[in-house]
Amino acid sequence: MALDIRDFREADRAALIALWEACALTRRWDDPNADMDRSIASRDATILVGTLDNDVIASAVVGHDGHRGWIYYLAVSPDRKACGHGREMMAEAELWLTARGTPKVQLMVRGENETATAFYNALGYERQDVTVLGKWLMPSPEAD
Ligand SMILES: CC(C)(COP(=O)(O)OP(=O)(O)OC[C@H]1O[C@@H](n2cnc3c(N)ncnc32)[C@H](O)[C@@H]1OP(=O)(O)O)[C@@H](O)C(=O)NCCC(=O)NCCS
Repeated sequence: MALDIRDFREADRAALIALWEACALTRRWDDPNADMDRSIASRDATILVGTLDNDVIASAVVGHDGHRGWIYYLAVSPDRKACGHGREMMAEAELWLTARGTPKVQLMVRGENETATAFYNALGYERQDVTVLGKWLMPSPEAD
């Protein structure tokens, strides 16, 4: 059964956070509510929500930073995996970016997430010859 995919509604908030936690996408130093608020407030981002019978079972946060498209928080409920819903969410996210003239989309996958890497490879995503650098702009919460 295909997903219904629509933009975020405020009533989705708790279900989305539960989904992201169930999919191990949250980190204690990231505030998912703040992430949602920023995406909702931005004209260059949206939160796509996938439902089945009105149950929230998938998400993708998609946005454009002025140069590239980015996708974050791609998630499919663990009990609904391998049904094609991840592919559906990615197709919708790519459509959202294409409609805004975005020539290229990229995303980051944690090194240990081999399942997600295999999934993205199946969708035509390829490893890029770039090094991702980061720097904390506050005391590193990872050091706690
Ligand atoms: C990654 C994730 C979104 C995939 O969603 P899904 O609904 O299970 O994937 P789909 O059923 O749409 O699979 C699409 C394709 O990817 C392939 N695929 C999915 N998982 C795979 C794996 N572990 N190994 C190889 N191929 C895989 C499928 O075979 C399928 O290919 P096909 O359509 O040609 O048959 C889902 O597993 C998830 O939510 N994981 C936890 C959160 C996460 O890691 N998100 C990514 C953060 S970067």
